[in-house]
Amino acid sequence: MSKYLIANWKANKDYSQTQLWIKNFKNQLIANSAQDKLNQAEWQVILAPSFPLLWPAAMALHREELKVQLATQDLSHQTAGSFTGSVAADNLKGLSISYVILGHSERRRFFAETDEQVAQKVKLALQAGYTPVLCLDVEYLDTQAALLSPAERQACVVAYEPWGAISTATANAQSANPQEILPVLNQIKQVYQPKAVIYGGSVDENNINDYLAICDGALIGSASLDEAKFAKLLAQAS
Ligand code: PGA
Repeated sequence: MSKYLIANWKANKDYSQTQLWIKNFKNQLIANSAQDKLNQAEWQVILAPSFPLLWPAAMALHREELKVQLATQDLSHQTAGSFTGSVAADNLKGLSISYVILGHSERRRFFAETDEQVAQKVKLALQAGYTPVLCLDVEYLDTQAALLSPAERQACVVAYEPWGAISTATANAQSANPQEILPVLNQIKQVYQPKAVIYGGSVDENNINDYLAICDGALIGSASLDEAKFAKLLAQAS
């Protein structure tokens, strides 16, 4: 089974910072003797920049010959059409995107996304051939599941992200205790039977292996913004 390391840049970085990150990431991988990991089927390394940076990132990754896949951080719950400002699944065709992060707690909290909308996004993503990285917290684990078919649940990579563990959510956010989150990870496995279960919330190069020991990967926010940190995390991951 593959392990997923997903860099969620959120609404950070611009065009030139993206180019620089990718160039430096390659150098840092070489410095940490970790460049081969990108070519191993065991590791799925995925970068999720904001929408306008997806294509520049795709070009730069191609130029640097880095086998890093791309994810969006969201998708519209509407189809393509007259929905000004939306990004629909069909708009992404041909842009070398494999994954879509959906239902992140920041989308649910700051943009009032509902379980219904997130379920609709999952359906549209799957129809378009993308793998959803469905983000969940305990309070909507079951209600979200009820809006998806068994096949849809099974096609997702599910990311368990306790709100209080997200590094920027509160002033004193801390990564969750791996032993304490085990029951939730098991509950997700039972209810969703997903492709993979990953964890997100203050994961960095020092604690990555604590989570890889109990689940299939991590969604990494702050620690992915610095290419040296993210390369180190990849080097440490086992
Ligand atoms: P963090 O973010 O790694 O900065 O805690 C994780 C996330 O929100 O996906």
